[in-house]
Amino acid sequence: MSMKDIYSDTSFDAIMLKYGLALEMLETELKVMIRNYEYTSKTTPVDHLKSRLKTKESIIKKLHKKGYEINNYNIMNHVHDIIGVRIVCSFLPDVYEIANLIKSNNKLVIKEEKDYIKNPKDSGYVSYHLIVLVPINLDGKEIKIEAEIQIRTMAMDFWASLDHKIRYKFRELPEEVEKEVYNSSLDIRALDEKMYHLNEIAKKYKEEI
Ligand code: GTP
Ligand code: MG
Repeated sequence: MSMKDIYSDTSFDAIMLKYGLALEMLETELKVMIRNYEYTSKTTPVDHLKSRLKTKESIIKKLHKKGYEINNYNIMNHVHDIIGVRIVCSFLPDVYEIANLIKSNNKLVIKEEKDYIKNPKDSGYVSYHLIVLVPINLDGKEIKIEAEIQIRTMAMDFWASLDHKIRYKFRELPEEVEKEVYNSSLDIRALDEKMYHLNEIAKKYKEEI
């Protein structure tokens, strides 16, 4: 009987199994890093961490949207967020602390970095994205699996989540809605700045006591 090992199996189910394993690896790696950082810095920059594996339907939808044929090669090469991890932080500088922490990890390879905080998208979307390669070992052989990590503040997360809900209902947003959604992103940014400054003031008071 010939047994196909998972390393060389290129069926859809085997691909998804590899992504599933890589997600578990990545989540554990990130959690260990964050706990360790919290312990040494005596701060708690992360409010919460969430992760998800893209569904088959949504993988197909994305390839379709990008104009690619549906096959396993295109799944692995043109869908960069089959693994999605979202790290939601308290204050603005925490986002960069966490991004730097991930960049300094010697197991993860940084493939791409997108700073939508310095360069917000036209929609108003603000976040820090990293595309990383996660190594997993299968039958003694290492393969690297792509994952998208989104790092943002709670305020950015609030906006992105509601933006997504509003946008979902339309093929294209009515212009007045688009404009107001964008304007609300400016309020979110102002709020993040304000909370950051208030926290800095509060920290100073604490030092003086
Ligand atoms: P795609 O995933 O195909 O969009 O690839 P891309 O190269 O355009 O990546 P990009 O960094 O623009 O977006 C990746 C992810 O960021 C998306 O899947 C969303 O989760 C999030 N995102 C990007 N733009 C927006 C936006 O305008 N609103 C919201 N709510 N989320 C967004
Ligand atoms: Mg996009």
